[in-house]
Amino acid sequence: MNLPLTFSCASDLHKKLEAERISGNRIGFVPTMGALHRGHLDLVLRAIEENDRVVISIFVNPTQFNNSIDLEKYPRTLDKDLQLLADLPKVVVFHPVKDEVYPEEDKFQPIDLNGLDEVMEGTYRPGHFQGVVHVVHNLFQIVKPDNAYFGLKDYQQLAIIKWMVKKLDLRVSIVECETRRESSGLALSSRNLRLSDKEKEDSTILYSTLKHIQTVCKNLSPSEAKLEAISFFNRGKLELEYLEIVDPVTLKELDSWKDGAVCCIAAYCGEVRLIDNMIIC
Ligand code: PAJ
Repeated sequence: MNLPLTFSCASDLHKKLEAERISGNRIGFVPTMGALHRGHLDLVLRAIEENDRVVISIFVNPTQFNNSIDLEKYPRTLDKDLQLLADLPKVVVFHPVKDEVYPEEDKFQPIDLNGLDEVMEGTYRPGHFQGVVHVVHNLFQIVKPDNAYFGLKDYQQLAIIKWMVKKLDLRVSIVECETRRESSGLALSSRNLRLSDKEKEDSTILYSTLKHIQTVCKNLSPSEAKLEAISFFNRGKLELEYLEIVDPVTLKELDSWKDGAVCCIAAYCGEVRLIDNMIIC
């Protein structure tokens, strides 16, 4: 088994990639926090198809956790992650310590996210998205990718990254990748490692609710659809945090239907917080 070449020093990685860029290589980048699963792998495989070199970062970013227990409990499975990436062509891994990503001379300034960080996840996780844009910005400075791959699983994060790229005029194409699910419909997530089999079964209510609302929405207004979805969801065992039907770009609640309308849910299964979403029309 050939484990991927791994860098922990930002300037070593940066130098290697600069040399490759000069010789015309296209660089793809998949930022992750590790505990890799098949959903992450989909992003990596797509990046391999579309680039000459693929960088995967594995970094549990402290600035995006507003809950220290959540940060502490976040699974760290580096050896397994490297095994999952073994024998893949073109791949290098970046596994830095905090100071490599947040150096003393860090010039990053908080970005106005146009209200995208004030709804849904932003309401319940204050500061989370500034932490995400900060780390992704700094990682982009190190890797300078041509293409960067993000999952639709984290719809709001994707919308915010796209906004950041536009606002800062960064030269990187953001590639959106479909959500990978278990056959039960449960979206793959590193947090699923903390669920028992029974809890996993209970958690399929997220997917069933999204599918239900996709089926019945045609005959309802968005606000009626939201009520219907909440009542469907509450037949299950999870504790709902929010359920919103929003504009795909502004993330504002919809008064009338629009192409690409997306339903986003966050809920707790025990202590584990799960999110999911689906484009419903
Ligand atoms: P992480 O949760 O590790 O996710 C890394 C990438 O994998 C994200 O773009 C996420 O949307 C995608 N992903 C996760 N589960 C997926 C699934 N089931 N199907 C498809 N894609 C999936 O998101 C983060 O890390 C961090 O916030 C990060 C962007 C790395 C910044 O720290």
